[in-house]
Amino acid sequence: MADVLMVYGSTTGNTEWVAEEIAKQMKGAGHTVAVKGAGSVTADGLCQGHDLVVFGCSTWGQDEIELQEDFVPLFEAFDSIGANGVKTAVFGCGDDDYTYFCGAVDAITEKLEKLGSKVVGGKLKINGDPGDARDEIKSWTDGVLAAV
Ligand SMILES: Cc1cc2nc3c(=O)[nH]c(=O)nc-3n(C[C@H](O)[C@H](O)[C@H](O)COP(=O)(O)O)c2cc1C
Repeated sequence: MADVLMVYGSTTGNTEWVAEEIAKQMKGAGHTVAVKGAGSVTADGLCQGHDLVVFGCSTWGQDEIELQEDFVPLFEAFDSIGANGVKTAVFGCGDDDYTYFCGAVDAITEKLEKLGSKVVGGKLKINGDPGDARDEIKSWTDGVLAAV
Protein backbone atom coordinates (compact mmCIF):
# COMPACT_ATOMS: atom_id res chain seq x y z
CA MET A 1 0.00 0.00 0.00
CA ALA A 2 1.25 3.47 -0.86
CA ASP A 3 2.17 6.35 1.43
CA VAL A 4 0.56 9.42 -0.14
CA LEU A 5 1.06 13.09 0.72
CA MET A 6 -1.53 15.52 -0.62
CA VAL A 7 -0.83 19.27 -0.59
CA TYR A 8 -3.47 21.73 -1.73
CA GLY A 9 -4.04 25.46 -2.11
CA SER A 10 -7.67 26.60 -2.05
CA THR A 11 -9.30 29.98 -1.43
CA THR A 12 -13.05 29.30 -1.56
CA GLY A 13 -12.83 25.61 -0.63
CA ASN A 14 -13.33 23.95 -4.02
CA THR A 15 -9.86 22.45 -4.38
CA GLU A 16 -9.89 21.53 -0.70
CA TRP A 17 -13.13 19.61 -1.25
CA VAL A 18 -11.60 17.75 -4.20
CA ALA A 19 -8.50 16.96 -2.12
CA GLU A 20 -10.70 15.37 0.54
CA GLU A 21 -12.65 13.40 -2.08
CA ILE A 22 -9.44 12.03 -3.60
CA ALA A 23 -8.07 11.24 -0.13
CA LYS A 24 -11.28 9.43 0.84
CA GLN A 25 -11.08 7.27 -2.27
CA MET A 26 -7.40 6.50 -1.76
CA LYS A 27 -7.93 5.62 1.90
CA GLY A 28 -10.84 3.38 0.87
CA ALA A 29 -8.41 1.54 -1.40
CA GLY A 30 -6.16 0.92 1.61
CA HIS A 31 -3.53 3.62 1.11
CA THR A 32 -2.20 5.97 3.78
CA VAL A 33 -2.96 9.60 2.93
CA ALA A 34 -1.96 12.81 4.73
CA VAL A 35 -3.79 15.94 3.49
CA LYS A 36 -2.12 19.29 4.14
CA GLY A 37 -2.74 22.91 3.18
CA ALA A 38 0.04 24.45 1.11
CA GLY A 39 0.54 27.14 3.75
CA SER A 40 1.29 24.58 6.44
CA VAL A 41 4.11 22.62 4.78
CA THR A 42 7.85 23.21 4.52
CA ALA A 43 9.26 22.94 1.02
CA ASP A 44 12.61 21.41 1.97
CA GLY A 45 12.49 17.68 1.22
CA LEU A 46 8.68 17.70 1.04
CA CYS A 47 8.47 14.77 -1.40
CA GLN A 48 11.01 12.56 0.34
CA GLY A 49 9.74 9.36 1.93
CA HIS A 50 6.43 9.26 0.02
CA ASP A 51 5.37 6.90 -2.76
CA LEU A 52 3.20 9.62 -4.29
CA VAL A 53 2.78 13.35 -3.72
CA VAL A 54 -0.45 14.88 -5.02
CA PHE A 55 -0.59 18.64 -5.57
CA GLY A 56 -3.89 20.52 -5.87
CA CYS A 57 -4.10 24.21 -6.69
CA SER A 58 -6.75 26.58 -8.02
CA THR A 59 -5.95 29.29 -10.57
CA TRP A 60 -6.39 33.05 -10.14
CA GLY A 61 -5.47 36.12 -12.15
CA GLN A 62 -6.80 37.36 -15.49
CA ASP A 63 -4.17 38.03 -18.11
CA GLU A 64 -1.58 35.71 -16.62
CA ILE A 65 -1.53 32.52 -14.57
CA GLU A 66 -1.63 33.13 -10.84
CA LEU A 67 -1.46 30.23 -8.43
CA GLN A 68 -3.71 30.22 -5.38
CA GLU A 69 -2.04 32.47 -2.82
CA ASP A 70 -1.10 29.83 -0.19
CA PHE A 71 0.62 27.84 -2.92
CA VAL A 72 2.79 30.70 -4.19
CA PRO A 73 5.58 30.58 -1.55
CA LEU A 74 5.74 26.78 -1.84
CA PHE A 75 5.95 26.96 -5.63
CA GLU A 76 8.73 29.54 -5.42
CA ALA A 77 10.68 27.01 -3.31
CA PHE A 78 9.88 23.99 -5.51
CA ASP A 79 13.56 23.45 -6.36
CA SER A 80 14.04 22.19 -2.79
CA ILE A 81 11.10 19.75 -2.50
CA GLY A 82 13.15 16.76 -3.63
CA ALA A 83 10.87 15.81 -6.53
CA ASN A 84 13.53 14.05 -8.61
CA GLY A 85 12.50 10.41 -9.12
CA VAL A 86 9.31 10.80 -7.05
CA LYS A 87 5.87 10.11 -8.49
CA THR A 88 3.50 13.06 -8.35
CA ALA A 89 0.01 13.95 -9.59
CA VAL A 90 -1.61 17.35 -10.13
CA PHE A 91 -5.19 18.58 -10.01
CA GLY A 92 -7.02 21.86 -9.58
CA CYS A 93 -10.25 23.79 -9.89
CA GLY A 94 -10.88 26.65 -12.29
CA ASP A 95 -13.30 28.21 -14.69
CA ASP A 96 -13.05 27.77 -18.45
CA ASP A 97 -14.31 31.33 -19.03
CA TYR A 98 -10.76 32.44 -18.21
CA THR A 99 -7.94 32.51 -20.75
CA TYR A 100 -5.77 30.14 -18.74
CA PHE A 101 -8.21 27.47 -17.63
CA CYS A 102 -6.58 25.73 -14.64
CA GLY A 103 -3.27 27.29 -15.61
CA ALA A 104 -1.89 26.46 -12.16
CA VAL A 105 -2.20 22.74 -12.99
CA ASP A 106 -0.14 23.31 -16.15
CA ALA A 107 2.50 25.40 -14.34
CA ILE A 108 2.93 22.93 -11.47
CA THR A 109 3.06 19.93 -13.82
CA GLU A 110 5.65 21.57 -16.04
CA LYS A 111 7.84 22.47 -13.06
CA LEU A 112 7.61 18.97 -11.53
CA GLU A 113 8.66 17.41 -14.85
CA LYS A 114 11.62 19.79 -15.05
CA LEU A 115 12.60 18.70 -11.55
CA GLY A 116 12.70 15.05 -12.66
CA SER A 117 9.42 13.89 -11.16
CA LYS A 118 7.23 11.36 -12.93
CA VAL A 119 3.81 13.03 -13.08
CA VAL A 120 1.19 10.28 -13.25
CA GLY A 121 -2.50 10.14 -14.12
CA GLY A 122 -2.63 13.17 -16.43
CA LYS A 123 -3.92 16.57 -15.35
CA LEU A 124 -7.24 16.78 -13.53
CA LYS A 125 -8.80 20.16 -14.36
CA ILE A 126 -12.21 20.75 -12.84
CA ASN A 127 -14.46 23.38 -14.32
CA GLY A 128 -16.96 25.05 -11.99
CA ASP A 129 -18.61 23.26 -9.08
CA PRO A 130 -16.52 20.20 -8.18
CA GLY A 131 -19.63 18.52 -6.79
CA ASP A 132 -20.65 17.98 -10.42
CA ALA A 133 -17.35 16.27 -11.18
CA ARG A 134 -17.47 13.27 -8.85
CA ASP A 135 -17.17 10.75 -11.71
CA GLU A 136 -14.28 12.67 -13.26
CA ILE A 137 -12.52 12.78 -9.87
CA LYS A 138 -13.09 9.07 -9.31
CA SER A 139 -11.73 7.94 -12.66
CA TRP A 140 -8.71 10.27 -12.38
CA THR A 141 -7.93 8.88 -8.92
CA ASP A 142 -8.24 5.31 -10.24
CA GLY A 143 -5.76 6.20 -12.99
CA VAL A 144 -3.31 7.74 -10.54
CA LEU A 145 -3.48 4.73 -8.22
CA ALA A 146 -2.95 2.36 -11.12
CA ALA A 147 0.34 4.16 -11.84
CA VAL A 148 1.69 4.00 -8.27
C1 LIG B 1 -10.64 36.98 -9.78
C2 LIG B 1 -10.68 35.55 -10.25
C3 LIG B 1 -9.74 35.12 -11.16
C4 LIG B 1 -9.77 33.78 -11.62
N1 LIG B 1 -8.86 33.38 -12.57
C5 LIG B 1 -8.95 32.12 -13.08
C6 LIG B 1 -8.08 31.70 -14.13
O1 LIG B 1 -7.22 32.44 -14.64
N2 LIG B 1 -8.20 30.42 -14.60
C7 LIG B 1 -9.15 29.57 -14.12
O2 LIG B 1 -9.22 28.43 -14.59
N3 LIG B 1 -10.00 29.94 -13.11
C8 LIG B 1 -9.92 31.18 -12.59
N4 LIG B 1 -10.78 31.58 -11.59
C9 LIG B 1 -11.76 30.61 -11.06
C10 LIG B 1 -11.29 29.91 -9.77
O3 LIG B 1 -10.08 29.22 -9.97
C11 LIG B 1 -12.39 28.91 -9.35
O4 LIG B 1 -13.46 29.66 -8.78
C12 LIG B 1 -11.95 27.83 -8.41
O5 LIG B 1 -13.00 26.89 -8.24
C13 LIG B 1 -11.51 28.31 -7.06
O6 LIG B 1 -11.02 27.20 -6.35
P1 LIG B 1 -10.65 27.27 -4.79
O7 LIG B 1 -11.93 27.49 -4.05
O8 LIG B 1 -10.08 25.94 -4.51
O9 LIG B 1 -9.68 28.37 -4.61
C14 LIG B 1 -10.75 32.88 -11.12
C15 LIG B 1 -11.69 33.34 -10.18
C16 LIG B 1 -11.67 34.67 -9.75
C17 LIG B 1 -12.71 35.12 -8.76
